[in-house]
Amino acid sequence: MDIIFAAAPTKDTQPHVVFTFERDLTEGAKDMDGRVGGALTRALEASRFKGKVGEVLDLRAPTGINATRLVLVGLGKQDKFNALAAAKVGGAIYGALAMSGETGVQVIVGGAHADKVDETAFAATLGQGALLRSWRCDRFKTKQKEDEKPALKEVTVITSDATKAKEQFTPLEALAKGVFFTREVVTLPPNILYPLSYAQRIKEELTPLGVEVEILELATITKMGMGALVGVGQGSVQDSCVVVMQWKGGAKDATPVAFIGKGVTFDTGGISIKPASNMDEMKYDMAGSAAVVGVIRALAGRKAKVNAVGVVGLVENMPSGSAQRPGDIVTTLSGQTVEILNTDAEGRLVLADVLWYAKERFKPQFMVNLATLTGAIVVALGDQFAGLFSNNDALCDKLVSAGKETGEKLWRLPLDEAYDKDIDSPIADMQNISNGRKAGSITAAQFLQRFVGETPWAHLDIAGTAWAYKDESLHAKGATGYGVRLLENLVRTHYEG
Ligand code: BES
Ligand code: MN
Ligand code: ZN
Repeated sequence: MDIIFAAAPTKDTQPHVVFTFERDLTEGAKDMDGRVGGALTRALEASRFKGKVGEVLDLRAPTGINATRLVLVGLGKQDKFNALAAAKVGGAIYGALAMSGETGVQVIVGGAHADKVDETAFAATLGQGALLRSWRCDRFKTKQKEDEKPALKEVTVITSDATKAKEQFTPLEALAKGVFFTREVVTLPPNILYPLSYAQRIKEELTPLGVEVEILELATITKMGMGALVGVGQGSVQDSCVVVMQWKGGAKDATPVAFIGKGVTFDTGGISIKPASNMDEMKYDMAGSAAVVGVIRALAGRKAKVNAVGVVGLVENMPSGSAQRPGDIVTTLSGQTVEILNTDAEGRLVLADVLWYAKERFKPQFMVNLATLTGAIVVALGDQFAGLFSNNDALCDKLVSAGKETGEKLWRLPLDEAYDKDIDSPIADMQNISNGRKAGSITAAQFLQRFVGETPWAHLDIAGTAWAYKDESLHAKGATGYGVRLLENLVRTHYEG
C-alpha cells in the first residue's frame, strides 16, 4: 500500500475523508459540508455517530462533489487527542474502506490538530496507522478472487505542508517495516520457518540495512556450553541456533542496549506433549524473537543513533527418540544446572542461555527479553496487557510509559525471593517448573532472573498479546507485531543521541 502526501486533492472521484472531534467538525469537514449542501450535518443528526476515535460515518454518492463517498471519521475529544489516536484513525480509515472496492482515498486533514499533535504530525502518523493496518499475508492463497482481496492501494493525505509531512513519515514507515517483518516471521508456518531458515531470513533482511548478523550454529553453541537451549532442540530434526544482530548507529564506545527473544519455531511441548486442540497456534511461540528482529529492523531502517544488540535463541521443541526427558539434568551456559521436570516449560531454558550469553558478551546498559512464555499470563492479563517483570524500577517506568504511548500496554507483576523455593530442585540448582500450579508466570520470571546477574533487566511475557483473534485498529487478526513499536519508542525517547 502507498501512502502519498499532497497539498491539494489529486483525484476528485475517490472517496474523501474529513474529520470531527467529539462535538466540533474540523475546518476541512465544515468546508466539505458546505459543498454537499449540509448533507454531512444532516447525516450526523440522523445517526448515533459521536465522533469517538476511529468512528466512521460513510455517506455514499453525495451530491455536490464528484467523490463516490464522503466519510466522516471521529477524532475523539480534542484535549485527549495524541499520536496513538492519530495512528488509530489511520487504521480505522483503512479498515472501513479496504474491502469496499475503492482503490484509493483522499484524506483531508485540514484543521485537524490538537495540543499534542499538530497538523503535520497528524498527517504523518495517520499514514503510518493506515499502513500498519494494511498488512496481510496472502501468499498461501492461490485461488483468491479479486473481490476477496482489499482493493485499496493508496491513501493520499492532503495537508498544507505535504513535504514536511512526508519527511516526518519516513522514520514512521521504517518502523512499520520492522513491524511487518515481525508479523511475517510469526505468520510463516513451522514447516517453512524453522531455526536455520529463520536465521537465513533474518540475515537476508538485516544485512542490507547495515546490521551485522552472526548465526551461531548447533556445533558452536553446543561447544560453548548452551546445554539448556540445545537440550530443548535435541528432539527435532531441525538444528537449533542462536542469531546475534548488532546495529552500530551510536558512538563507537557507547554501551549497547540489548534485546533478547524466545524463538521456539514450534512448541509441541516435547515429551510433556500438549493437547491436540489448537496446537497449530504454537507456531507463534517465536514471537518474542520476532519482536527483537523487528525492532532491530526498525532502528536500522531509520538509522537510529544507538548501539543495539539483538540475540535470539531459535529451536523447535519436538518429541522423538532423541528428545529431552522429564528428569534430565542440563548444564546451562552460566554453569548452573537445571532439572527438567516438564519439557513444555522450554522457553525459560532457551532464554537462560541467551540472556547469560548477551550479558557476558556485550555487558549491555540493560537487557529486555520478550517471550511467549506462559499460558498463565493469558489467564491473568488476557490480550490487552503483556506481563512485565523487572529487577529495575527505572527501566520499568520507561517501558510502561512507552507502552502507553504506543498502545502496547504493560502491567508489572512481582519478582520476589520468596518464590525461589518453588523452583529450587532437590537434585540440581533449580528445576524448570514449580511443583504446584500457582503463580506460573512469576515462577517463570523468577527462573529467568537467575541468568541476568546485576544487569538492569526486564522480561515481557507476550503470550497473550502476540497473536490476535480479531481485527483491531492497527492490525488484522493474527500476528500483531507486539513489542516492536514499544521498544522503538523506548530507544527513541531515552537512549538515542
Ligand atoms: N509456549 C508456551 C506458552 C504459551 C501458551 C504461549 C499459550 C502462547 C499461548 C510455553 O512454552 C509453555 O508451554 N508453558 C507452559 C509452562 C508450564 C509447563 C509450566 C504453560 O504455560 O502451560
Ligand atoms: Mn512450552
Ligand atoms: Zn513455548
